[in-house]
Amino acid sequence: GAESPLPSGEHDFVVVANRLPVDITVAHDGSLTWERSPGGLVTALAPIMRQNAGAWVGWSGTAGFEHEPFDGEGMRLWPVPLSEREVADYYEGFSNGTLWPLYHDVIVPPEYHRTWWNAYVSVNRRFAAAAAEAVAPGGTVWVHDYQLQLVPSVLRLLRPDVKIGFFNHIPFPPVEIFGQLPWRRQVVEGLLGADLVGFQRPGDAANFLRSVRRLTDLQVRGPQVTIPGRWSRPDRQVRAQAFPISIDAAAFDELARTPEVLARAQEIRTELGSPEVLLLGVDRLDYTKGIQHRLKAFGELLEDGQLHAPESCMVQVASPSRERVEQYRMLRDEVEGTVGRINGEFGALGRAAVHYMHHSYPMEEMAALYRAADVMLVTSLRDGMNLVAKEYIAARSDLGGALVLSEFTGAADELGQALMINPHDIDGTKATIMRAVTMEPKEGRRRMRNLRKRVIEHDVRRWADDFLGYLAMTAPHQETP
Ligand code: G6P
Repeated sequence: GAESPLPSGEHDFVVVANRLPVDITVAHDGSLTWERSPGGLVTALAPIMRQNAGAWVGWSGTAGFEHEPFDGEGMRLWPVPLSEREVADYYEGFSNGTLWPLYHDVIVPPEYHRTWWNAYVSVNRRFAAAAAEAVAPGGTVWVHDYQLQLVPSVLRLLRPDVKIGFFNHIPFPPVEIFGQLPWRRQVVEGLLGADLVGFQRPGDAANFLRSVRRLTDLQVRGPQVTIPGRWSRPDRQVRAQAFPISIDAAAFDELARTPEVLARAQEIRTELGSPEVLLLGVDRLDYTKGIQHRLKAFGELLEDGQLHAPESCMVQVASPSRERVEQYRMLRDEVEGTVGRINGEFGALGRAAVHYMHHSYPMEEMAALYRAADVMLVTSLRDGMNLVAKEYIAARSDLGGALVLSEFTGAADELGQALMINPHDIDGTKATIMRAVTMEPKEGRRRMRNLRKRVIEHDVRRWADDFLGYLAMTAPHQETP
């Protein structure tokens, strides 16, 4: 044809995410070493990457880090550099100071700054350009999460020959809240560059489709949006649908059965002074997780004398997160103040009521904690999915333990046999915690068996296969590079 060929790369399958799936260390001589970062996404995608000469485009996590693409973990790792300023404006600012609270029910007020938006636009363009360079003719690009919502439309302009999927890992808010965003239309149009837009819950997909209706002139029928073709191009369909994410359930199940983990679970209970009741919370230290609500409920149960410390105690693992963002610093101070007050009031010498850990732990230790805990508390005020709930279930092959789960998590859609709470209802939460503590073992086993069936059958591999299966079925594009 008369058209000049578009530049194209060699990877049939390209993942684009804010973060690379490895933690990189640079030695004095400039050479790189890396370790695969924990997380279900890379575990699920690794085999697909190996089969399809895959590449993963993402930020290293360090400002100023620049490096050529290199091979690691059975894929091409493709670093996208961010300057200090961009980390502040695109990552901490627009992603985590604007979009994160906006998409989580405005639990804290989102901030709208034009400088943050401008950085978001230019960084999204850089990710899209890297993906365009990496992907082979007619290949597939899968873009992940709220940090990169403009990548699909930019990439489509650069590479109309490729299939583009997008998956939003966090909630998508109702248009009445989303509508606050000064750049709401650009974000919707950015996402509509994809062929398939995936969400955690059907409700998130419905919220997105309502925003498309309200904010654009496009035709929406069921899950499909029609983008009219221009010049000689045919119309294009975009599909919005729920694909609830999961964990590598079999691997977690297996880990939690090993003699080492079981011994460590015993040891944890002994170290805690062999409590009668062990409650557990595991979260990134984030205001969406309802850690304050959980502590309030536990503190009141001790106050009322329904539970007694230290015979009943709580372990709260709060892994450090986004520590340069103001709201996260404030939250840390509040949580640590509350833990101190509860322990001051109800702890004994050498026996805390709340054991608070501001660290992250390896998977083995997490599995042991899950096995040791009688009651798992997931109290999110809003949560895209909450994989901790699924990890707890996968770890409990003994059918022990009870899961108290907020109805404001994506997981609540699937895990109907958990004990549901509205975390804002402190009395209701207290009553449900007591129900979990006093539940007949028979009922507990029945519920856990049912929960395990769901989590083991719907693992992260099935999630990826489902999403990519739908993406493969979308109409092939006309243009070839
Ligand atoms: C959530 C988001 C992810 C994000 C993760 C950790 O799960 O959906 O996109 O990577 O939190 O947050 P961070 O800001 O450290 O990447």
